[in-house]
Amino acid sequence: MTVQTQIIRDAQKLSEFAHQAQKSGKTIGLVPTMGYLHEGHLSLIRAARQKADVVIVSDFVNPTQFGPTEDYATYPRDEQADLEKCQSCGADVLFIPTVETLYPNGQDSTWVEVSKMGNILCGATRPGHFRGVATVVTKLLWLSRADYAFFGEKDYQQLTILRRMAQDLGCPTKIIGMPLVREADGLAMSSRNVRLTPDQRKQALSLSQGLKAARERFQNGARSVRELTQAAQDIIQAQKDTAIQYISIADPDSLDIFTDTVPEHAIMLLAVKVGAVRLIDNMRLD
Ligand code: PAF
Repeated sequence: MTVQTQIIRDAQKLSEFAHQAQKSGKTIGLVPTMGYLHEGHLSLIRAARQKADVVIVSDFVNPTQFGPTEDYATYPRDEQADLEKCQSCGADVLFIPTVETLYPNGQDSTWVEVSKMGNILCGATRPGHFRGVATVVTKLLWLSRADYAFFGEKDYQQLTILRRMAQDLGCPTKIIGMPLVREADGLAMSSRNVRLTPDQRKQALSLSQGLKAARERFQNGARSVRELTQAAQDIIQAQKDTAIQYISIADPDSLDIFTDTVPEHAIMLLAVKVGAVRLIDNMRLD
């Protein structure tokens, strides 16, 4: 399905567009992204297209979720390619706001704070990251008046936090999680993959291989956190350019981290730097 996707850059204009759509009885699906769209994002846009009358994709590299030493400046961007992909998936609007239109009073004004869940896993090495995510997503939900918002399970902690946030704040938008999409060789799709050298790209396969090794042990009866974590760690550490930030096993709903024995329902999550590129991945063990 190819449609003419309208670009909107101004927050007020998006709000008016959404208001009109809502007034005419249409449901709205939002796909928040940071752009440089890949097949994982497209699966979210297609799901939104199936579910809602109007589909809005947002394309915004949100400065408040990056730490001072992180890759905000080098995060890949390609507006024209994103527009073409939105058109091919039938998105009605591509919202590409400026920082000023989304943060009219500067970047340190009103925040949506995330407590415990935001300080573990990725939050432990990225202080303030989930506060930035929760804040920008709240703005996007308000502006788009979305009935449904779609997020990928690759960012599993983010999805869990946003579900909790919507519940805590009484937000009417239904948060919908969609399965993680992998390249044919198993690498989780990410806009950051493009920054890997060909050799690092090969080494990055150790993330999904490590997760699979842990899952196999779990399925063969292993329940020790230490043993399962070690299985993944051995494979990842065998690559010369990898630096593990964390490998954890957690409850899939609460994200409570297991420290000793793994119960029947569990997810392994990890973050690894491959060269200068920070990658995340996760896999249900059950
Ligand atoms: O997952 C992302 O791309 C971002 O964290 C999000 C949800 C678009 C907020 O900036």
